[in-house]
Amino acid sequence: MNFADSEIVASLLTKANHTIVTDIEAADYILINTCAIRDNAEQRIRKRLHELRALQQRHKQVRIGILGCMAERLQSQLMVEEENVSFVVGPDAYRRLPELLASVRTPGTKAAETELSTTETYADIEPVRLGSNGISAYISIMRGCQNYCAYCVVPYTRGRERSRDPETIVSEARNLFEQGYKEVTLLGQNVNSYRYASENGNVDFPELMHRVASISPLLRVRFATSHPKDLSDRLLEVMASHSNICKCIHLPVQSGSDRMLKLMNRHYDSAWYLDRIAAIRRYMPDCSITTDVIAGFCTETEEEHQMTLEMFRKVRYDYAYMFKFSMRPDTYAAKHLEDDIPEAEKTRRLEEIIALQGQIALENNRKEIGKTFEVLVEGESHRSKEQLFGRNSQNKVIVFDRHDAQPGQYIQVKVTDCTAATLKGEIVQP
Ligand code: 5AD
Ligand code: SF4
Repeated sequence: MNFADSEIVASLLTKANHTIVTDIEAADYILINTCAIRDNAEQRIRKRLHELRALQQRHKQVRIGILGCMAERLQSQLMVEEENVSFVVGPDAYRRLPELLASVRTPGTKAAETELSTTETYADIEPVRLGSNGISAYISIMRGCQNYCAYCVVPYTRGRERSRDPETIVSEARNLFEQGYKEVTLLGQNVNSYRYASENGNVDFPELMHRVASISPLLRVRFATSHPKDLSDRLLEVMASHSNICKCIHLPVQSGSDRMLKLMNRHYDSAWYLDRIAAIRRYMPDCSITTDVIAGFCTETEEEHQMTLEMFRKVRYDYAYMFKFSMRPDTYAAKHLEDDIPEAEKTRRLEEIIALQGQIALENNRKEIGKTFEVLVEGESHRSKEQLFGRNSQNKVIVFDRHDAQPGQYIQVKVTDCTAATLKGEIVQP
């Protein structure tokens, strides 16, 4: 999401006659787009700000700005705490950046703009693709979130949920395809609640996916993130009916315990979640499933932690983003619950989940040995120039000897070996 936002910022600033430099020593402005979801994300930013002090001594003209969720959360207080920051800009205020950049030229001047909007979607902004491989791109389809999960700061930093005009989404995807891109990922905090009403009728997420996937069978379409409470059979039907909609669903479970899920305000229980998993497998037996999970949320007992492990054993995720609970100011948890699981215990629980998931991912990957997949080639393998890597529809990375394959091509690869993280294979000539 932040990556997509940075591309919008780059577009707004290039239109205002700024240019992006790759050498930080040549910059007049350094913009840091920040995350506030866990405390360690914010600590990393503070460390980076500290490191930038030496550069500011060398180049007195440099102005540093903080964008994104940390800016929204701390507002002008951040410029008091971090003296070398000249401006803070929240996620809905990027259109004002050219003006704010101009206003902080006078030494010692500071500026903050952190108003949230109920309507801003940057729908008309054609993002400038940053560090792009020219093959895959993100398209933001909605902003904000109002699910108010008890642990989560996002509703406070990104504001109310709003959906972007589908016509602008489809035309952005079509333009990318015409420029040679082969894959788009539609982004939102909860894509299943995408809804746009216009004179031409209502467009929901399954309809939007259908429209984007219909641009060309050679354009792969991915999406993130789905909230389990809103994952509909209609979406699964649409996914199953387009071969270019990638067979991969990210469905954050957060916990395997019904009491925890209720306390987290997730609006589903483990039975509902497992029913959705069964539905995915019914429509698309080859679909990969990934998740997010939090270890050590307020009052979580050992038994409830075991329920999370049990959930992992039942679903057998292909990949998981696994986190220790981090108490965030302003959230329901901060106001009403106690962060009572000791750090060492959170770590132990997290490590147990990570170990189990590593084992499951390896077992899942071993089952792929011998199968042949269509792979979109993305680039050179990090290990060897003689090898390329790409992904299959399930979003699994496959490494193979290059022969004469090129990035951006679709090729057939037969899996011959694997680790928990990667498949290895060889090109099968058609
Ligand atoms: N502590 C730990 N993890 C969190 N997440 C969101 N808020 C917190 C928090 N306070 C995780 C959730 C979410 C993912 C993006 O980050 O698992 O799905
Ligand atoms: Fe946070 Fe919940 Fe919204 Fe995801 S759905 S962004 S976890 S409040």
